[in-house]
Amino acid sequence: MQDKDALSTLTWLLDAGADEAMGEEPVNRLKAPMPHPPLEGPEGRARAQARPVGSQFVSAASKFREREQPPSPTPPPSDNDAIGTAQRSAAAASSLADLKAALEAFEGCGLKRGATTTVFADGTPTGGIMFIGEAPGRDEDRAGKPFVGRAGQLLDRMLASIGLSRQTNTYITNVMAWRPPDNRDPTPEEGAMCLPFLRRHIELADPKVIVLLGAVAARHVVGLSEGIMRSRGRWMDYRIGEQTVPLLLTLHPAYLLRQPAHKKLAWRDLQSLAARLESLNLLERRDAVS
Ligand code: URA
Repeated sequence: MQDKDALSTLTWLLDAGADEAMGEEPVNRLKAPMPHPPLEGPEGRARAQARPVGSQFVSAASKFREREQPPSPTPPPSDNDAIGTAQRSAAAASSLADLKAALEAFEGCGLKRGATTTVFADGTPTGGIMFIGEAPGRDEDRAGKPFVGRAGQLLDRMLASIGLSRQTNTYITNVMAWRPPDNRDPTPEEGAMCLPFLRRHIELADPKVIVLLGAVAARHVVGLSEGIMRSRGRWMDYRIGEQTVPLLLTLHPAYLLRQPAHKKLAWRDLQSLAARLESLNLLERRDAVS
């Protein structure tokens, strides 16, 4: 391969989110292992019959899994156990600091093994405005804070355009506390394990308005089944105990980086958010004479 081909392949992989080396030696995962040399005689025939078609691929896949996962002293809990543990541990947290510690101690979600940090939240929880994204990316995984990469910088500019900021009034978290490999969508099982923590997070932060960024957050938090393009701009109700909190669906800033023409739609959603915040006295009226 020419140097420039190798470089462009690397750039492509990086853009796709494959930015971590998993081992010292390169592995060609497309190459099937050498089949066993055929054995002569009855033993050979018996072994050939016992081995199902394609079994060499199964054994290659299980070797891959063995290599990817560091040995753990106790077997990981099954999904049901893990969700139960997540529910109990989240429910026992009586402050945001408790909840952060509980999440850091939780071992039920496989994503944690591939992540560098547990990404909890950033911003001002007392401001009454909570934004929820999908999952940490590479920059967030390194920094241990949500939305610090390019999408986060765009989010900061979007917030600033209506007078919001992490420093003064806005609190930001994600559905998932750990980065999924290659930035893939979290699976329903992974989401189900993180959801008890997120729901408790919302209760403890006690926001007066919630904003969900993108389809994945909308799917996990309010069970949205249709596309985000159809539902963005929609206000819904989110129940926290006895109270109902207004919740807005909007586009994810990473999507807006890929589709800048849709920024105008996000701008409309931001105007709607600003109007709601003003009506709740969470934001100073922009038409007020100073
Ligand atoms: N995208 C998200 O959904 N969350 C982050 O923290 C960063 C990028």
